[in-house]
Amino acid sequence: MWGGRFDGGPAAVMQEINASIPFDKRLWRQDIAGSRAHANMLASCGIISEEDKTAIQSGLDQIESEFEKGGIPEDLALEDIHMTVEKRLVEIAGEAARRLHTARSRNDQVATDLRLWVRGAIAEIDAAIADLQSALLTRAEEHADSIMPGFTHLQVAQPVTLGHHLMAWFEMLRRDRSRFSDCAARLNEMPLGAAALAGTGFAIDRNHTAHALDFDRPMANSLDAVSDRDFAIEFLSATAQLALHLSRMAEEIVIWASQPYSFVSLSDEWSTGSSIMPQKRNPDAAELVRGHSGRILGCLQALMTTMKGLPLAYSKDMQNDKPPVFEAFDLIGLCLAAMSGMVASLSFDRARMREVAADGFSTATDLADWLVREHGLPFRDAHHVTGAAVKLCEERGDRDLSGLTAEDLSSAASGLAIAEMPDLSVEGSVNGRSSAGGTAPLRVKEAIAAARKDLSS
Ligand code: ARG
Repeated sequence: MWGGRFDGGPAAVMQEINASIPFDKRLWRQDIAGSRAHANMLASCGIISEEDKTAIQSGLDQIESEFEKGGIPEDLALEDIHMTVEKRLVEIAGEAARRLHTARSRNDQVATDLRLWVRGAIAEIDAAIADLQSALLTRAEEHADSIMPGFTHLQVAQPVTLGHHLMAWFEMLRRDRSRFSDCAARLNEMPLGAAALAGTGFAIDRNHTAHALDFDRPMANSLDAVSDRDFAIEFLSATAQLALHLSRMAEEIVIWASQPYSFVSLSDEWSTGSSIMPQKRNPDAAELVRGHSGRILGCLQALMTTMKGLPLAYSKDMQNDKPPVFEAFDLIGLCLAAMSGMVASLSFDRARMREVAADGFSTATDLADWLVREHGLPFRDAHHVTGAAVKLCEERGDRDLSGLTAEDLSSAASGLAIAEMPDLSVEGSVNGRSSAGGTAPLRVKEAIAAARKDLSS
């Protein structure tokens, strides 16, 4: 395709290091779509004839069905997907096909193909996140008033509801979707027409092509159009953030499934055994979601590092944009599907979670709040009195505040007259936390209803 000024062919290793077809063949549908739009535009602008256009279009139809059935031929000598499609087109359509590359370069072609590919990838990821969100809503509804310990520093802090915890995951995913949708909106400008770097002397109509490919508009600057991969970095960044969220969820599942916690057990479908310890049931899927997130972060790092020193416009380094984008996409798809499967099949031990929720004097804050409300103590004083009461219970060997009497509390409060005790149960605690966004089952049910509406719109 470019042999005119060469006498010899490339060294074998040159061919190998240069070829991207082993991985960029995944762009074949986008490449054909781009060529279709380009050929139509060239004909409508009178740059190629209607007959040539028709020959090109039916050749592209044929290639599409060949690739669909037989896969994409991988000839390293053809370098990449663009040459692979074009070479086959020339075999089918001859002279007409040789006119297709008018007013076009592989530089604007590849930038266009990858934008189209990432746009489709975002739609798939968004649908997979929505599936996970819907699995979470089902479980949150079921457990809107199941009590579990809430943690800070991984120490039991205050009782919360499992529904509230699962809805926290839901919210993380809601923001992830909005990051992807921002990325999709920003990337939807078309590089085609930038040609190699400077634009073209042919009287092309870039709006025609942009419209045909569902882009909002052509990119404004030809140098920028062929030389930035910020959209791919942004996609990887949204993917990395999503992977981080999934990793944190996975980590919680791993912890909850461990014997000392025993909050949850995994179904047969989503766990594995050990080859030596017959009793084992391991949360491998959750561990791999956590592990894969590390690789996804690596993909983002790889592309940022590739781009950071590149001058305008195109450099071959940029050919390496695709492997991390594809890898991250494949991994995140697996992670999302595995997480949806796990969430749907987790079986929670409500009694166990409730028991641990009462541990560690988790309703001490409720006592302090009550001293503020009922006895008018400043919160700092109430905090101090409650601390003394907890110390007293601890000295007696208690694990919660149920043994605390009004007399104990009066003496902890240096003689303040306290006749009766508040409800310090974990149920009382969660029901009381009814501020907007709080853990009270009432609020959780409202949050679920709002989320359901949101998800279906
Ligand atoms: N395979 C190349 C890539 O992915 C296409 C662009 C090649 N352009 C060039 N001037 N060699 O980046």
